[in-house]
Amino acid sequence: MNRHNLRNPFTLGGVARGKQFAGRRDEIARLRALARDGQRTFLFAPRRYGKTSLLREAFEPEVHADRLLLLWCDCLVTGDADSLARRIAEPVVRATACKGLTQWARAAGALFKRLRPTLSVGPDGDVRVSIDLADSGGAVGVEDALGAAGRLADARGRPAVFVFDEFQEIGAWDANHRTEAAIRTVIQNQAGVAYVFAGSEQHLLEAMFGTRERPLFKLAVPFPLDRLSDDELRPWLEARFGETGVECKPAALDALIELGAGHPWASQYLAHFVWNEAFTRGHSRVTRGIVYDGLAVALQVADTVYDRDFATLTHPQRRVLMAIATETTCSPTAVSYLRGHRLPAKSTVSQALRSLVRLGFVERRRDRYRVGDPLFGTWVRRQ
Ligand SMILES: Nc1ncnc2c1ncn2[C@@H]1O[C@H](COP(=O)(O)OP(=O)(O)OP(=O)(O)O)[C@@H](O)[C@H]1O
Ligand SMILES: [Mg+2]
Repeated sequence: MNRHNLRNPFTLGGVARGKQFAGRRDEIARLRALARDGQRTFLFAPRRYGKTSLLREAFEPEVHADRLLLLWCDCLVTGDADSLARRIAEPVVRATACKGLTQWARAAGALFKRLRPTLSVGPDGDVRVSIDLADSGGAVGVEDALGAAGRLADARGRPAVFVFDEFQEIGAWDANHRTEAAIRTVIQNQAGVAYVFAGSEQHLLEAMFGTRERPLFKLAVPFPLDRLSDDELRPWLEARFGETGVECKPAALDALIELGAGHPWASQYLAHFVWNEAFTRGHSRVTRGIVYDGLAVALQVADTVYDRDFATLTHPQRRVLMAIATETTCSPTAVSYLRGHRLPAKSTVSQALRSLVRLGFVERRRDRYRVGDPLFGTWVRRQ
């Protein structure tokens, strides 16, 4: 193996694809079945759990095999119903791409009742899509754009899936739930298009789909995404190290898995630095010692961010975080826990914990509180 051509098999960020993506076979199978059957689901997990990566990994190969039509709308950058309508319409227009701009524009235009898509070629040769809302802005535009998605799926005669990533963001501007109502109007009558509403704010998504008074009540079933299991991580880590001629000793693998705690981002991030340590030192074997050396570098690189995050917390929040980082618990306000970790009064701890959960620093899973990012937990313990 020529060492000079070797690249770190672990990524530091972005969407994990192909070999960079571990496990999730069951989730992929379930998502594909939901897409095939035109179902609706809301997928939720804390930040950096791999929601976007999973959806891409589940659907893109199906698109390449011509079995599925994928339409994708990232709601993070929407600020009102007009921008959402444009964001929904654009992938619909792009999916109609055919030879010749005029034919393409005609095919795309035919799908909309009110919105008017226009195509132009930019200086770089790329086709630009712009959507003229004419007099159909707001919720009406959203309705037309989603309707066009359905008409496209019908015309193609192939199942389609529409992904709304960071869907909870629309709650920030959709004050009277008019956009939610428009989405409901379209999707409840649409066969042949599956919908995935993904997001990291579980309580906001649950409020959207679980509150009787809200338009989307019970229109999508929950799809919680958990951390990766040891059985998913172990073969993946072994294979990635192995492909680059690096053997990971069982004790080193145990340490890597324990430190990453199944958190997808943290596990991949840590593995990146551990691989670097082995590679730069010319080792073909990763030992426990190398894992801890990699951890030191990983924490050093993240130090500025962790330091800034920690500095934003109040004194009681820091103390509670420190306690949870040292010992996960189901009873954070039990006298023994408060005493053992020298925590302030029960009410102060409850309040601090609530805000730590809301801010995403602490997660509650099956009634147990733990630090969201396990590497941040390690950093906190070392303060
Ligand atoms: N199945 C996986 N296997 C390995 N690494 C993963 C996996 N899923 C996610 N990751 C890692 O986690 C990182 C975050 O993934 P991704 O952006 O898909 O998460 P997300 O939940 O969509 O995050 P956000 O909440 O920020 O949108 C990726 O850069 C990758 O390093
Ligand atoms: Mg994402």
